[in-house]
Formats: sequence, C-alpha cells, structure tokens
Amino acid sequence: MKKQLFALLFALVPFTAMAAPLPPQPFSMTPDISDEASLQRGMQLYTNYCMGCHSLEHQRFSRAATDLGMPQDLVEENLIFSSQLAFNDQMHIGMQPGDSVNWFGVSPPDLTLFNRIKGPDYIYSYLLGFYRDPSQPLGVNNIVLEASAMPNVLEPLQGVQEMVCTETNRPVEGAELDPLTGMYQSCEVLQVTRPGSMEPEEFEEAVYDLTNFLVYVGEPSRLQAQAMAPKVLIFIFIFGIFAYFLKREYWRDVH
Ligand code: HEC
Repeated sequence: MKKQLFALLFALVPFTAMAAPLPPQPFSMTPDISDEASLQRGMQLYTNYCMGCHSLEHQRFSRAATDLGMPQDLVEENLIFSSQLAFNDQMHIGMQPGDSVNWFGVSPPDLTLFNRIKGPDYIYSYLLGFYRDPSQPLGVNNIVLEASAMPNVLEPLQGVQEMVCTETNRPVEGAELDPLTGMYQSCEVLQVTRPGSMEPEEFEEAVYDLTNFLVYVGEPSRLQAQAMAPKVLIFIFIFGIFAYFLKREYWRDVH
C-alpha cells in the first residue's frame, strides 16, 4: 500500500520543472491562427522551403486544406511536390534519417509539435536569426541555436545577414573584453548586407506566416474550438434563462 501511495505522490509531481531553460529570443511575434491568408502563405512557404528536410508527421494535407479553406485540386497542384504523397497522406518527407545524419551531423526534427515545446518566439527568432559566420562549416551561424547544423535556406529571400559588433573602452553589459586590444566588444545587431529578393519587412512577414503556420500545425483543433466558442457561450446564456425560470417555477410551491 505504501508503495502505491509513493507512486501516486510521484505521479502528481509536475514535470515542467525539469524542462531546460530556453536561450534568449530577441524577436517576438503574436500568432493569429484565425488569419487564414497568413496560414495559407505559411503553408506554401513550408512546403517550398522546409519540407525537403522537415516532416510534419501528425498533419495531413487534407486536414490543412479543410482548416485553411483550400480546395483539394489547388493543394494537389501547388503544395504536394512528391509523387509518393497523396492528398490524404501525412506530410512525410523522403529523406531518410541515416542520410540526413551523414549530411548534417543531426537529423532535422519533425516540426509538428515543435511550437508546443519551444513556442512561437523561438521559431520566429531562429528563422530571423541566421547570420554569416565563415568559421562555421556551412558559413552561417544562428543567434538562437549556436552552431546550428541547418543551412540558411531562406537566404535567397532575406539576403546575407551579418552580425554587427561595436567596441568601447568601458565595460558594458554583455560585452566581452578583447585581451589584444583591451577594448570591450559586443556583437548583436543583425544587418542585411546583401539584399535578397524580399525587402526586410516583407521577409519578416513571410517568417511571421511560416511561424503562424507552425503554431496552427501544433494544435489544429484550436481553430475549430475558437470557431465553436461563441456558439457555446450563446447556448449557455439561452439555457441559463430557461434554467432560471424553471428554478423559479419549482421554488414557487416551496415558498
Ligand atoms: C536542407 C535541410 C533543411 C531545410 C530545407 C530546413 N531545415 Fe530546419 N533544420 C535542419 C537541420 C539539419 C536542423 C538541426 C539543427 C541542429 O540541431 O543543429 C534543423 C533544425 C530546425 C529547427 C529546430 C531548431 C532547434 O532549436 O532545434 C527548426 C525550428 C527548423 N529547422 C525550422 C525550419 C524551417 C521553418 C524551414 C523552412 C524555412 C527549415 N527548417 C528548412 C535542416 C533543414
């Protein structure tokens, strides 16, 4: 009996305390999964730029099509690129985990539930935070995930981004002392030094849409729940009126 009690006690210990702390995320976004156009653009970007490496195992094309208001033929023509995949399939990828480990050193994670683990600000900052770094094998680094093994696949859209460093002779917060020059150096501002096909604001919007889509994918039923919520509230309100009059009717005999 004691054992069972202990087991019960441990079952009640919250596991959130064990989660690792997240690195700083300099950019933030407020998701809006009721913005259908944004989610559609996000899905288009996802299938074009991310699905070569990242699957969405728990999401079907057909489910996204229904939720985001896209007709089947449009999805089949514009968003399903592999002949191995059909409209009702989950969003699998062709890349084998063994191959990706050979190529990148790690396997690109499935992103269906990624937002539930790290949150939208993390994804948004990660996608905006690639910068040129010749010391890295792929020539890029990331402000959120140091030495990330992911190539900067959005560079043609964003352009080349670089870390800008400033030097002062006084110690400022976050600055590192360069022992050779005796100056304090802090590197943080990211600047696009060679433009891509998009203006910076346009690129931020594209990354917003992409992140918004990944937020939706993490919890597709939330869209339905949000649509249903006002109806449920109206029902409860009308039912409340009837319940109130019924109560008065019953209690009239008691008083
Ligand atoms: C060429 C393959 C490739 C493509 C295309 C690609 N990624 Fe990645 N991605 C990777 C690899 C490899 C990692 C693992 C990075 C690591 O752990 O160092 C990764 C990691 C990630 C992570 C997790 C980062 C973390 O903190 O663990 C996110 C989020 C992500 N990618 C989003 C995207 C999005 C969104 C796109 C489309 C714009 C995309 N990726 C396109 C290869 C790719």
